[in-house]
Amino acid sequence: MKALLTAGGRGTRLRPITHTQNKHLIPIANKPILQYAIDAVKQAGITEIGIVVGVDNGHEVERAFGDGSQQGVAITYIWQEAPLGLAHVVKISQEFIGDDSFVFYLGDNIVVGGIERFVEQFNNGASDCLLTLARVRDPERFGVPEFNDEGAIVGVIEKPTSPKSPFAVSGIYFYNSSIFTAVNAIQPSSRGELEISDAHDYLLKNGYRVGHSEITGWWKDTGMPSDLLEANRLVLSKIEEKIDGRIDQFSDIAGAVVIEEGAEVISSRVRGPAIIGRGTKIIDSYVGPYSAIGNNCQLDGCEVEYSILMERVRLNNVGVRVEGSILANDVEIVRAAGKPRVQRFMLGEQSRIELV
Ligand code: DAU
Repeated sequence: MKALLTAGGRGTRLRPITHTQNKHLIPIANKPILQYAIDAVKQAGITEIGIVVGVDNGHEVERAFGDGSQQGVAITYIWQEAPLGLAHVVKISQEFIGDDSFVFYLGDNIVVGGIERFVEQFNNGASDCLLTLARVRDPERFGVPEFNDEGAIVGVIEKPTSPKSPFAVSGIYFYNSSIFTAVNAIQPSSRGELEISDAHDYLLKNGYRVGHSEITGWWKDTGMPSDLLEANRLVLSKIEEKIDGRIDQFSDIAGAVVIEEGAEVISSRVRGPAIIGRGTKIIDSYVGPYSAIGNNCQLDGCEVEYSILMERVRLNNVGVRVEGSILANDVEIVRAAGKPRVQRFMLGEQSRIELV
C-alpha cells in the first residue's frame, strides 16, 4: 500500500498566515501539520509516500521534508498546476500509485489514534473504497454521507446546505484502483473543482463497494484559525513532561511541560500542557495551558495562554494576556517607549487585532 498526501491548495481560510507560509507547515505543538500525516502513515507501515504540492508554494514543503530518507520513508513530490480539486489530485497521481491500493490522506487533517485499524479493515478486501467518518457539529463544512435503513452509505454530498447525517467524511480515504475510473468520469462542480465527494458518489451509484468506519478518537480538519488552536490544544493535552532546557530557581513549572534544548525559563511561571521551543527565552512571564511557543522566541514581561507562537516571535511587556492567538514567524508585539502613548501597527494584508 502507498500513501498519497496533500499539501497544495491555497489555504485562503487561514490568511494572513498563508500569505507567506504553506498551510501544511503551520506548527501544531511545534510540529508541522503535515508531519502528523507522515507519522500516521509510517506508523501503519507505509513508507512509499506521494505528496501533492502546488507550483506556487510546493518548494517550501520539499525543503522541509526532502526525500524523506531522514525519517525512513521515500517521498515523491507530485506537482499540481492549480488547486483544481481533490479528485484532480488523485487523477494526477495515477502514475505514482500504479496498480497499488493506497491511503489518500489530506495533509491538513490530524487524527489521534492512528490509521492502522483502517488499513487492516481495508486490506481484508471487502471494499473498493473505505471512507472514515467523524461525528461533527457542523457537517455542512464537509463531505456528508447519506445512509439507508441498513446503515450502508448510499450517497455523499460535498458541503450540503441540509446535511443528511451528522457525519463528516474525514480526509483519510482508502482506495484500490477503481477510484481512477471515478475521478476520470466526473465533471467539475459549480465551484469549478473536481470534488472527491462526487468521485465517491460515482462509486456508490455504479455498483462499487464503499465501506465505512467511524473515527472514535478525535479528528480535526485544520481549515480555520479556530481549528488550529483546537488541534494544538488536543495534541498538547497528550504530551508528556520533558525538560531539556534550563529553568532558573525563581521559576515555577507545573503540569505537562516540554522545554526543548537551549530554551531558558527565567523568573517565570509555566502551567502545562505547554511546549517551549529550542533557543526560546521566557523572562518574567507567564505561559499558561495549551500554549505552543516555537523556536528562538523571546517573551519578556508577558502572559500567554491557549496560543500558537511560531518562530522568532518577540513579545515585550504587552500589558494584557495574549490568549487564543496565532502569531506567525518573526511577529513582534512590544511596548512603545516615550510620549505620546499610542498604539502603533504595522500589519500585513488580512491581519486581525482585537483590543481591550
Ligand atoms: O477534511 C475533510 C474534508 O476535506 C472532506 O469532508 C471534504 O469532503 C473534502 O472535500 C475536503 O474539504 P475541504 O474544504 O476541507 O478541502 P480543502 O480545499 O481544504 O483541501 C483539503 C486538502 O487538500 C488540503 O491539504 C489542501 C489540499 N488540496 C486541496 C485542493 C482543492 C490540494 O492539494 N489540491 C487541491 O486542488
